[in-house]
Amino acid sequence: MVSRPHGGRLVVRVASENRRERVLASAAEYIQLKIGLREAYDVENIGYGVYSPLDGFMVSEDLEHVLLDMRLSSDIPWTIPIIVSVTQEEKTFDVGDEVLLVYDGHPLAVMQVEDIYSYDKKLYVEKVFKTSDPSHPGVYNVLREMGEYLVGGRIELVDTVPNPYSKYYLRPIETRVLFRERGWRTVVGFQTRNAPHMGHEYVQKTALSFVDGIFINPVIGRKKKGDFKDEVILEAYTELMRNYYPRDTAVLSIVRYEMRYAGPREAIHHAIMRKNFGCTHFIVGRDHAGVGGFYGPYEAQEIFKEFPDLGVTPVFFREFFYCRKCGGIVHEKICPHGEEHRIRFSGTYVRNAIKKREDIPPYIIRPEVARVLLSHPDPFV
Ligand code: ADX
Repeated sequence: MVSRPHGGRLVVRVASENRRERVLASAAEYIQLKIGLREAYDVENIGYGVYSPLDGFMVSEDLEHVLLDMRLSSDIPWTIPIIVSVTQEEKTFDVGDEVLLVYDGHPLAVMQVEDIYSYDKKLYVEKVFKTSDPSHPGVYNVLREMGEYLVGGRIELVDTVPNPYSKYYLRPIETRVLFRERGWRTVVGFQTRNAPHMGHEYVQKTALSFVDGIFINPVIGRKKKGDFKDEVILEAYTELMRNYYPRDTAVLSIVRYEMRYAGPREAIHHAIMRKNFGCTHFIVGRDHAGVGGFYGPYEAQEIFKEFPDLGVTPVFFREFFYCRKCGGIVHEKICPHGEEHRIRFSGTYVRNAIKKREDIPPYIIRPEVARVLLSHPDPFV
């Protein structure tokens, strides 16, 4: 029994082959709205039901509810605005028009314009990111890069951004079938934007001890400077799974999505996406979807208290670290030793070690994974 989609029904907004051909053939006759990569990925996620029950970009009523109540106007939990913005100059159409959403010359979707509205950027960033500091990458994007109007309306997918990793991609309809075929009644989802260290592996395997299968679902898409490149993450996971995971307990599949780094609110959004892929459980560890010091280490866990009706069970973990005294990977609930014995899985440490081509101890990163990381002249974005 995989989980029911969020809102009860898996949304699929993909144009029929006929319609698709007609739209693409007459693309030049449409009013075209240029969108960025984030929105292009959002279009794909709406189209394939990763964002069920959304069937388009948010209208003002939904945005207002999401900002103020963390729910859609239908009262279904939703924490991250899914929106497309335009500048005054780009606002060349009206409510009721059909526009073509175009990314980098590729027509991706037809949108029925239902709403064109202004919004309060300050309120937006303070609600979503809990800060208006532009050094936060999500805040910067809203304050400095987004247009002053938002356009809402249903979409119909006619194409997707070319996907160099398509062999790693399964749509929710496919993962749901796969989980069923494997006989998994409980599936835990794992979100990541990183190459795996031992902390990630322990979180995953501890969760896996209590459920039938794990869905390892790295986000692929534009990230922030210093994050690992997409191909490095995929190669690293492939090696890790080949060497350390029983074949029938784990599925690796990507989702194309741009991280917002919205910490707690984004953790809920991540859980909803994985629920739509069919997960019954979702892992939330330390500083989930955080950036810099903007969120407390367990804030992304606490927020789940506000969503008893989420329909996916969060699985919380304290920070895993290596303890020299224990001689293994542990966390504060199971290790009595002091800070001086603990080695933490710091991204900065790993980055520096890789840049200097230093050996990374096997209790931090598996040797097979370290080899992948070191085989890339520059594994970072
Ligand atoms: S995230 O931005 O996608 O959250 P990352 O890929 O590093 O970043 O983390 C993926 C998941 O693993 C998150 O749930 C995160 O909280 C968890 N995690 C990462 N490192 C640890 C650790 N040392 N201990 C416990 N959980 C961790």
